[in-house]
Amino acid sequence: MLCINAESLSKSYGSVKAVNDITMSVKSGQVFGFLGPNGAGKSTTIKLLTTLIQPSSGSLNILGIDAIKNPLELRHKIGVVLQQPSYEPTLTVEKSLEKYGMMWNVPNIERKNRMEKLLEDFDLIEIRKKRNEDLSIGQRRRVQVAREFMHDMDLLFLDEPTVGLDPSARRKLLDYLKNKVKTGLTIFFTTHILTEAEYLCDEIAIIDKGKILAVDTPNALKNRFGKEKTIKIHLLKNQQEIKSYLSDIPDCKIDFDTGTNIIIHSEQSELVLMKILKILNENDIEIDDLSAVPTNLEEIFLKMVEDNVSNN
Ligand SMILES: Nc1ncnc2c1ncn2[C@@H]1O[C@H](COP(=O)(O)OP(=O)(O)OP(=O)(O)O)[C@@H](O)[C@H]1O
Ligand SMILES: [Mg+2]
Repeated sequence: MLCINAESLSKSYGSVKAVNDITMSVKSGQVFGFLGPNGAGKSTTIKLLTTLIQPSSGSLNILGIDAIKNPLELRHKIGVVLQQPSYEPTLTVEKSLEKYGMMWNVPNIERKNRMEKLLEDFDLIEIRKKRNEDLSIGQRRRVQVAREFMHDMDLLFLDEPTVGLDPSARRKLLDYLKNKVKTGLTIFFTTHILTEAEYLCDEIAIIDKGKILAVDTPNALKNRFGKEKTIKIHLLKNQQEIKSYLSDIPDCKIDFDTGTNIIIHSEQSELVLMKILKILNENDIEIDDLSAVPTNLEEIFLKMVEDNVSNN
């Protein structure tokens, strides 16, 4: 079942097309990752999908509701954690959760129960009596995410929720989200951290300059763009002349970062490697170390964004 269906969605600020003709669908019960560099349009898309801003054009159906015509109806069914920190400085951690529960009309006993559970799940017990303004950035972010779970929802939007979290808090949050998805929640999640997207998301859209460049599962993205391998050769001695020896090899892109490191990107890695080894051997150039690794999602991402820049 489709949870989000956006068609030709656009949002312009003056001449800036922050979101430029995006069409996408998100299935229920999934984590959908929105991945893109700074200024790509991630937050603007979240604001559109959560009805905080109106699109310049396009249509948007979420949870079976026309989000442009009936924003209030939709807002009752979703949760959102925006990118900007939001907190009342003098409120304590537990009061923040409590107040949020009251805003959502969660009944008294249920509210207390949820609060206790969230304080525990988000490692907030020790700081429950601390005021928001006295918290560290990561603690504050944890409170901001935790309080969203004070109420029930069908769909949760998270705009870079892990920024400021240490590795262990980050992993805990991702695992917490994974478990919530198992119970039926759908999550729309933005990040520019690829490993995170790979760990959490069922599908990933790569976005840049307001446009979606690709949508697929993390594995399919890797298969689609990751036939390419990266071969790294480290030479024993600095040998600048190597550049001219290798310049004629077809089907590959070669970088020399210093005279001793050669980095080769190729979809024909075995063939290319054989040719290179032959040339090195013929010229008595000694190799210190050699490795071949499949190009990872991070490199695919950087390459797509780079190509997008050069095509414009
Ligand atoms: N209220 C606004 N007024 C004018 N321009 C805006 C506004 N909001 C966003 N923009 C512009 O729209 C583009 C997309 O911004 P957006 O905040 O959606 O990017 P992002 O992908 O969330 O980036 P980041 O990773 O830095 O959070 C940027 O060029 C930004 O300057
Ligand atoms: Mg943003």
